[in-house]
Amino acid sequence: MASQYDLIIRGGVCVLPWGMEQTSIGVRHGRIAALGIGEGAEAAETIDATGLHVLPGLIDPHVHLRDPGDASVESIPTGTKAAIIGGLTAVFDMPNTRPAITDATQLAWKQEYVSRAAWCDMGLYVGGTKTNIPELAALEQQEGVCAIKIFAGSSTGDLMVEDDEHLERVMRGGRRRIAFHSEDEYRLQARKPMFKSGDPYACHAEWRDVECAFLGTRRLMALARATGRPAHILHVSTAEELDYLKDFRDIATTELLVNHLTQFAPDVYERLRGFGVMNPPIRDRRHYDAAWAALRDGTVDCIGSDHAPHPHAAKLKPWPEVPAGLTGVQTLVPVMLDHVNAGRLSLMRLADLMCAGPARVYGALGKGRLAAGYDADFTLVDMRARRRIENNWIVSPCGWTPFDGMPITGWPMATIIRGRPVMRDGEALGTPSGRLVRFRG
Ligand code: DOR
Ligand code: ZN
Repeated sequence: MASQYDLIIRGGVCVLPWGMEQTSIGVRHGRIAALGIGEGAEAAETIDATGLHVLPGLIDPHVHLRDPGDASVESIPTGTKAAIIGGLTAVFDMPNTRPAITDATQLAWKQEYVSRAAWCDMGLYVGGTKTNIPELAALEQQEGVCAIKIFAGSSTGDLMVEDDEHLERVMRGGRRRIAFHSEDEYRLQARKPMFKSGDPYACHAEWRDVECAFLGTRRLMALARATGRPAHILHVSTAEELDYLKDFRDIATTELLVNHLTQFAPDVYERLRGFGVMNPPIRDRRHYDAAWAALRDGTVDCIGSDHAPHPHAAKLKPWPEVPAGLTGVQTLVPVMLDHVNAGRLSLMRLADLMCAGPARVYGALGKGRLAAGYDADFTLVDMRARRRIENNWIVSPCGWTPFDGMPITGWPMATIIRGRPVMRDGEALGTPSGRLVRFRG
């Protein structure tokens, strides 16, 4: 006789939208079929989650998997494998590749490649440029596209739309929420001559100072108000922006990065030197404290890693030649679970920030909630497991993490995507079976 369910997850403490409950979950055809199923129910496969917490599949809405570009540091197969080992069920991938994803041809290539090569589900950003504005409204409706990404200030790669005139045209050109890298390019360029090669790595946060980010965000909020276009401010890094953004919750959503919640200057630059350099920069304790306060009061919608691998040798270069960006897709969940264990946020809030939050901000369908009918995506975590993050655990070919040596309490034990276990006890299972996430158009 055919089993009632394809999979049952028994006895875990489930992080449901309305609270935590010890219950069992039945999965059929890749979706959650029922919660609270009885002892007698049968399944083709049963996972005993006694002693574990069952979270909705955790999503990293901000990764740079470098594909196409440089497979010696990262690629879609390696970056998505790192994601499932680290407890993620979906990642949203940035377009500043070589070449960049800015047109229908590049996007079609990536859509097809993801369906063959990704270990987890993926959303794809399309990069806005000054020349592809007329195409953005059509591109943002394509399968798997989570958002248009605009670099309003320069970072890795050459994607940029820095002036108000073009930014306004971008905002008038479609409907969906636009994701912004918010730093004021004019101020960045004006401040560059104040520094020289070989200055301390901590100068990164002086060059790209608070006003660079705050001015960028003020300009974007003025344009969002004028055009009525919803905006998502990626990796907010200053106390000033977090305070300011509270007046724009009707039109703007926000992301914080795990790096800005875990480290601060000057310590981070003394310890990690080039391995602490990213955009926007890691700043001092005042901004770290403001980030946690904003996370607790609900100003923040989601958390990302901004996984942005560069070769180890390049990160040894002096400042400012050192490329900006830190790896993080594999360490995001462990580091955030450690923050939960340290009492900085609850598991319920973590699920809001890493499951419901990205689903709400980007309009992901069938993701982000443990509820009947939703995709059967789960991250099973052991909140008591004690491990240490080490460079040799990192799957990404670049082979390093800024969290090397960090002791962690709380660890992902299993990753399940649309009812298929793809990671158990740190091992990837089967073959890549990731799909494009579906988004509300
Ligand atoms: O530090 C960063 N690295 N910030 C970005 O905005 C881009 C990223 C990268 O792609 O290297
Ligand atoms: Zn980024």
